[in-house]
Amino acid sequence: MENNEILIKKIGKLRKEKNAVILAHYYQIPEIQEIADFVGDSLDLSKKSAETKADIIVFAGVNFMAETAKILSPDKRVFIPDMNAGCSLAESCPADKFKEFRERYPDHIVVSYVNTTAEIKAMTDITCTSTNAVRIIESIPNDQKIIFAPDRNLGNYLNSITGREMVLWDGACHVHEEFSLEKMLALLKMYPKAKLIAHPECQRPVLIAADFVGSTSALLKFTETDSGSEYIVATESGILHQMRKRNPNKTFIPAPPIDSTCGCNDCRFMKLHDLQKIYDSLNEEKFEVNLSSEIMEKARKPILRMFELSN
Ligand code: 13P
Repeated sequence: MENNEILIKKIGKLRKEKNAVILAHYYQIPEIQEIADFVGDSLDLSKKSAETKADIIVFAGVNFMAETAKILSPDKRVFIPDMNAGCSLAESCPADKFKEFRERYPDHIVVSYVNTTAEIKAMTDITCTSTNAVRIIESIPNDQKIIFAPDRNLGNYLNSITGREMVLWDGACHVHEEFSLEKMLALLKMYPKAKLIAHPECQRPVLIAADFVGSTSALLKFTETDSGSEYIVATESGILHQMRKRNPNKTFIPAPPIDSTCGCNDCRFMKLHDLQKIYDSLNEEKFEVNLSSEIMEKARKPILRMFELSN
């Protein structure tokens, strides 16, 4: 591994020469967030990838995000620095099984969280992200039945907020499933002034105990506008970098997972990328995201529908 400073310079030079942009999700390591042209949650990143004038997008995120960028910008070349950066949630919803599931509910429309493969998006009517999910669900007439996939915790949360009874696919994200409420309650005893803030992919008992529930961007915004000074953060630990940067006088404590040896508040896929891999990706033009035009066309419709409904 080369010295970071040299790598950062080389990445900057290549990025200019190749008219490339580096997009990074909030769950990336701080070094990547610092060199990215844009850092955001999955909604922001999908919008940025649709707008960019660059020829090349290097996507420091997980596969479904890089696929979304390709679907929205089919004429651009999209690369992911580590091809193994999958997503436990997207993988919990295989296309063949989901097709059978959907066929059991012929009078339902499908709303899927963007954390899905392009094949699932191609079977979806409207996508959503955790930032716009309530708005999307509320835009659908009350008598229209809905299948929601793939995250059962987000689905249950949305049912409780909107009063809908959506049929839920039984999927989950390994990071958000693994938080220990017991350990969080113990931490709250140690930090009695701290507020517990949680992503809606967490299990229901965590969401009930939380002072604030929101998407990655909503959690970040909350820490900037709230008058408190200490927060226990129940989502992927990468977001703490931005929280600390924007609120240098506040204290942020990552929520502990059930098994503290598993490092579960780090997404094992998001954290596969590093600066060397970003450089290699730009330099060797690897690993390119390629999807069939038929899948891209089908998968684009529910994403554009999401943009229409959430604007
Ligand atoms: P958001 O960026 O939409 O908050 O979701 C991130 C994610 O992938 C959670 O698993």
